[in-house]
Amino acid sequence: MTRAVITGWGKCRPPLSLTNADLERLVETSDDWIADRTGIVERGMCHMETTDMAEVAARHALAAAGLEPTDLDLIIMCTLTPEVSCPSGACSLQERLGAVNAAAFDLNAACSGFVYGSVTAASMIAAGAKRTVLVVGVEKLHFLIDYRDRNTCVLFGDGAGAAVYQASDDPDVPDAGAPGVLGTDLGADGVAGSTMVVPTLGSRGELSSFRDPEHSRLHFEGQAVFKIAVRGMIDSVCRALDRAGLTADDVDLVVPHQANERIVRAAASRLGLTEDQVMLNIATHGNTSAASIPMALNDALDTARVRPGDIVVFTAFGGGVTWGSVVLRWGDRVERLGTSDAALGPVDMTVDELLARNREFFAPLHD
Ligand SMILES: CC(C)(COP(=O)(O)OP(=O)(O)OC[C@H]1O[C@@H](n2cnc3c(N)ncnc32)[C@H](O)[C@@H]1OP(=O)(O)O)[C@@H](O)C(=O)NCCC(=O)NCCS
Repeated sequence: MTRAVITGWGKCRPPLSLTNADLERLVETSDDWIADRTGIVERGMCHMETTDMAEVAARHALAAAGLEPTDLDLIIMCTLTPEVSCPSGACSLQERLGAVNAAAFDLNAACSGFVYGSVTAASMIAAGAKRTVLVVGVEKLHFLIDYRDRNTCVLFGDGAGAAVYQASDDPDVPDAGAPGVLGTDLGADGVAGSTMVVPTLGSRGELSSFRDPEHSRLHFEGQAVFKIAVRGMIDSVCRALDRAGLTADDVDLVVPHQANERIVRAAASRLGLTEDQVMLNIATHGNTSAASIPMALNDALDTARVRPGDIVVFTAFGGGVTWGSVVLRWGDRVERLGTSDAALGPVDMTVDELLARNREFFAPLHD
């Protein structure tokens, strides 16, 4: 039997940061309010494009796995902020990498994107359809955020994270000790979709070169989302653990979607998990939607939070509404096989300059 094992990991955290002090200058807020309500101190802001971040994260993940781009047979790019709708971001990334043997497609499950992508990769590997799959979560969210609206602008950051899933033909599988994906859960509730909406970037409406500010920014109902998120992640983790034949006591580390530190802590405490069992990097990254789990996984490995043979759980909820979880047993290797010097190009602007056009665009909504 074949299982999907993560053999490579990488991330791209843009060098520009939007700090809480910066936000105090842009909207009526305070460092204390943001830190207390969300756990966020700063977030990455990307001066380049989605594909640039995806390429950096992907090259780090491939180096960590000791693979060449030509070894890939599938690329899944999880994003709600692709540069263009066609060609897909995954196809642009395939071109950049020279991954000529890989099929490629985009997947949009909002903040649950990386979990949806991981389940897709693991299922295709288990079915024998693919053997080496790159899953990238990437977002340039600042494009969708109104930096005059304090309700939304404090939460989000840009970034990319990537993981390489490879087939492991361990003869002991399904022995309980063999590494790989052990259990999964995916779900959606379109009825609750109106709680998180990005009305733009779709085909709705008239053909026009005019972008309406009201329909170009992310809207969400904070408290409704908060409740859906906590309940949704708890139930999803329990279902995935059950399918893996495990319980919360068996979990070594949960790498959750970094939406809000309070959401993560509330879900973790109701699952009976201690702080040591939960990976958090939201303080320096913000909510990066589909990128948050692979970026946090990268940081967990860099800080020795994952040990050989650990039971690791990914869990997320997001727009749609969508949710999902993956339970896996980590393999023997927690170090990179190789490293890459891939990085974004130099920054020639301040964060204020980066956001100036955005603030000008949304100004009519705040007159
Ligand atoms: C957004 C969120 C941080 C707000 O925290 P909260 O504790 O629910 O805060 P509330 O919505 O109750 O707002 C409390 C007050 O703070 C105010 N407030 C909102 N944003 C603020 C900010 N950045 N600074 C200061 N005050 C702010 C509100 O206007 C409100 O004031 P009022 O009582 O005078 O109306 C929280 O609900 C959350 O994280 N929700 C999940 C959102 C999410 O993850 N979305 C991602 C998917 S799109």
